[in-house]
Amino acid sequence: MREIVTKVKEKTPIPVYERTVENVLSAVLASGDLWRIIDLSEEPLPLVTEVLGVLSKLGYIEFNKEIILTQKGKELVEKYGIAKREDYTCKHCEGKTVELNAFNDLLEQFKEIVKDRPQPKHDFDQAYVTPETTVARVALMHTRGDLANKEVFVLGDDDLTSIALMLSGLPKRIAVLDIDERLIKFIEKAADEIGYSNIDIFTFDLRKPLPDYALKKFDTFITDPPETVDAVRAFVGRGIATLKGPGCAGYFGITRRESSLDKWREIQKLLLNEFGVVITDLIRNFNEYVNWGYEEETRAWRLVPIKVKPGHNWYKSYMFRIQTLEGSKGFEDEITLGQELYDDDESSTT
Ligand SMILES: [Fe+2]
Repeated sequence: MREIVTKVKEKTPIPVYERTVENVLSAVLASGDLWRIIDLSEEPLPLVTEVLGVLSKLGYIEFNKEIILTQKGKELVEKYGIAKREDYTCKHCEGKTVELNAFNDLLEQFKEIVKDRPQPKHDFDQAYVTPETTVARVALMHTRGDLANKEVFVLGDDDLTSIALMLSGLPKRIAVLDIDERLIKFIEKAADEIGYSNIDIFTFDLRKPLPDYALKKFDTFITDPPETVDAVRAFVGRGIATLKGPGCAGYFGITRRESSLDKWREIQKLLLNEFGVVITDLIRNFNEYVNWGYEEETRAWRLVPIKVKPGHNWYKSYMFRIQTLEGSKGFEDEITLGQELYDDDESSTT
């Protein structure tokens, strides 16, 4: 084990533990499918690919169409008592913890409206979640008391959450911004069709500080940040800056696919120490992303040892809900970073 860890450490700056190797081997025991292995291991993709590379070089696994354990590999997992990773995610809610049946009509209307939606653009690091995920967000936010008669801000909306919010009729007012003009136009058109007028829709680059009329005006925000620590600071911090004060809530996704637990610790420090908010909910794999179609252009594609397109939605993120308390504060400075706002050693989908 130690030899494997040492060899992986030579290849990547991402922290590696024996647990990392164990997680990957457990996933290999459960599936031969590369994307399922990344999904199940819950390690960052660039780390999984390095671990797989070292395991293959040392003769523990073989790459075919699938990834298989060799005899030597079988002896290794036996020796360390590594068990197959099981997946007992609740089949009824798919781990989302909310009852979607209550929102069946909303889901059907939402699917109908978004069927001609603009497709993800690589330039903007876009990838959108399944319609079921978007509607589950409405269900979740409503059960936490964050929607009914509340003012809700959506910062970046390739998921079109603002459309599901309009259809729910729950918020008193909605504001939505995105850098992508195509999405903004699409949301405007949907607002017309739905006949919802209490919505402010504008094109905006979140690297810029928010205008005064957006600050301290909202009860709830939702955003889906790129996953460098700086991007989480910018996106989530600006979300917090839109909140009225203590007792407001924010929602955002953080993945394991592009963020190690070491990075998670930095993000949690940011939330607790810099922003002074509290994490009230953390729901594993709540957000499920539709494979975005530009896979072959991504770093992930260059890294994977087998060039097969994913056959299932492998990219998921955990849903965080935070709440503001006395002394919480957001982030209002300008960001001068370029592409490094989106990319770090652990990212792979840009
Ligand atoms: Fe469930």
